[in-house]
Amino acid sequence: MTVDLVTALPEVVRGPLESGVLGRALEEDTATVRVHDLRASAEDPQDQIDDYPFGGGGGMVLKPGPLVRCLEALEDKHGVPDDVIYLTPDGERFTQKSANQLSRKEYIVLVTGRYKGIDERVRRRWITREVSIGDYVLSGGELPALVLIDALVRLQPGALGDARSALTDSFQDDLLGAPVYTRPASFRGMDVPEVLRSGDHERIRRWRFDESVRRTRARRPDLLDESEKLDEEAPSSAPDGDKTA
Ligand code: ADE
Repeated sequence: MTVDLVTALPEVVRGPLESGVLGRALEEDTATVRVHDLRASAEDPQDQIDDYPFGGGGGMVLKPGPLVRCLEALEDKHGVPDDVIYLTPDGERFTQKSANQLSRKEYIVLVTGRYKGIDERVRRRWITREVSIGDYVLSGGELPALVLIDALVRLQPGALGDARSALTDSFQDDLLGAPVYTRPASFRGMDVPEVLRSGDHERIRRWRFDESVRRTRARRPDLLDESEKLDEEAPSSAPDGDKTA
């Protein structure tokens, strides 16, 4: 998968793209993320990339010219993207399901707004999908774009050391993850549950499933309503890997 990220603040996204699982995956070409500075598409160095909103009101709006020049230059160079996604609080809610679906696209462009957002005409003509990462307003789309990129890249084949890990993530089956423990087996009087040290993989699988259901019932009963509709019983073919929160 290739992602072109268009932003007025490229410095905000560079660090996270170079660190951790994401950084390693990109370095190993599991996916490609190219960052484009919107200012480079201004007509001249004096050309603003934002302007006051018609009709008044606070904040600034990203001008259509630089943004569209940038999108058209990308299309000339790399072809038509599968989606041009604008990160905005009034977009469709980003979920694990949308991550799974988007992760199968070959080429997407992410457009991040700043200030009051981007000119409506760009949204109408050039944006194919609008995505929100939650019901709160951030000062720009850069962090949401990083959230999307992280969620998509870790689903690419080869991105995670253990391929089962992504399959057993929280939300992947509408359940939250089971608790996880590492060494030492006893820490300040608190012991790791015996079952996890038993070596009995079937018992461990059942324990994890039961803990997932228990945690989901306590914290996110709305998810359980959905998954119980699909399957009342512990699936006998459930992956036996760990679940991560
Ligand atoms: N830009 C500002 N806030 C946002 C949000 N919650 N989701 C996506 N893009 C945004």
